[in-house]
Amino acid sequence: MARKLIVDCDPGIDDAVALCMALFDPRLDVVAVTATGGNIPGAQASRNVQALIERLDPPRYPRIGIVSSPKSAPHVDARFIHGDDGLGNQSLDVSVHHHRHAADKVIIDEVRAAPHEVTLLCLGPLTNIAHAFQRDPELPNLVDRLVIMGGSVCGIGNITPTAEFNIYADPISAQQVFQSRTTKTLVPLDITTQIKLTLDFKVDLPLDTSRAGQLLHPMVNFVFRSYHQHLGQESIHLHDAVALVAVVNPELFQSSDIFGQVETRGQLTSGMTVFDRRPQSHASPNMEVMTEVDVMAVTNCIVRGLAHAGRLTG
Ligand code: BDR
Ligand code: CA
Repeated sequence: MARKLIVDCDPGIDDAVALCMALFDPRLDVVAVTATGGNIPGAQASRNVQALIERLDPPRYPRIGIVSSPKSAPHVDARFIHGDDGLGNQSLDVSVHHHRHAADKVIIDEVRAAPHEVTLLCLGPLTNIAHAFQRDPELPNLVDRLVIMGGSVCGIGNITPTAEFNIYADPISAQQVFQSRTTKTLVPLDITTQIKLTLDFKVDLPLDTSRAGQLLHPMVNFVFRSYHQHLGQESIHLHDAVALVAVVNPELFQSSDIFGQVETRGQLTSGMTVFDRRPQSHASPNMEVMTEVDVMAVTNCIVRGLAHAGRLTG
C-alpha cells in the first residue's frame, strides 16, 4: 500500500523538485501539500504550492494548506538563491480558490483521518508543525513519522556560520518540534550537501515537452546561475529532494539515534542544532539523524524520479 504523505514546504526550487518527484511516485499517496513561509514569504509560498500542483496536474490532487497567519512570517528569506517568486522568476499563474484552508488545520485533519499512517515531510521552517502540535496536543502521537530536512550535525551552517536555513528561520518552532514526542528523522546539511548535481543533471531532466520538464528546466537553470553567482559553486544541492529520497529509500542512508536541540537565543548561534554525542551522555535520544548516505544511489533516485514524472506528464 502506498505510504500516506503530507509535504510541508516553502517552494523554493529544491522543494519544487521534491514535490515533482513525490506527486508521481507510486509508493506515495500525497494526501496534502501545505505551505510555510521560508525561502519566500508565506503568501508567495501558498501561491507556489498551488501553482506547482496545477502545472503538474498529478493523477490525484492533494489537499492544499495555505499560510494563514501573518504572525508566522519568518525573519529571513532565500530569494537570492530561488528568485523573487521562489521558483526562478517564472511568474506562474494560479486559479482563484474560494475555499482555502490553513496549513495547520489541514495537517491535523489528515493525520486524524489516518492515525499512525501519515508521514510528514518537512521541507521548510517548522512553523506549521509546531502550530498543529499546539492546536492538537495529541497529534505528535498520531503522526507515523516526521522526516525533517534541516540542521547541521558538524555545526557548519548555510545561512549563518552555525545555522541551517530551515531551522534558523523559526528556531522556536523547531525546538518545540524537536522536543515533541513524535518519531523524527533528521536529514541534515551534512548529508544533503554530499549530493552535488553537476551540469550533466540538466541533460537528464525530462524533456520540456512534458509538464514536469516545462517547470523544471527554467528553475534548474536559475539555481545553477544563483549558485554560481552567490556561492561560487558550479554544482548545486537539492536538499529537499534528498529528504524525499530518505522517505522512500531509507536503506540508502545510515543513521544514529541522538539527542538534539535547537539554540533559540544565542547572539551568534541562534538556529544552530546542538547534538549530544558525548559517549558518557545520559540524555535519551529524541531523533534519528542521518549520518551516512550512498551518494550515487541517491543521485540516481532523483534523476529517475524526475524522469518518471516527465513520462507521466508528457
Ligand atoms: C533548506 O533551505 C531552503 O533554502 C531549501 O529549500 C532547503 O529546504 C536548505 O538549507
Ligand atoms: Ca525548502
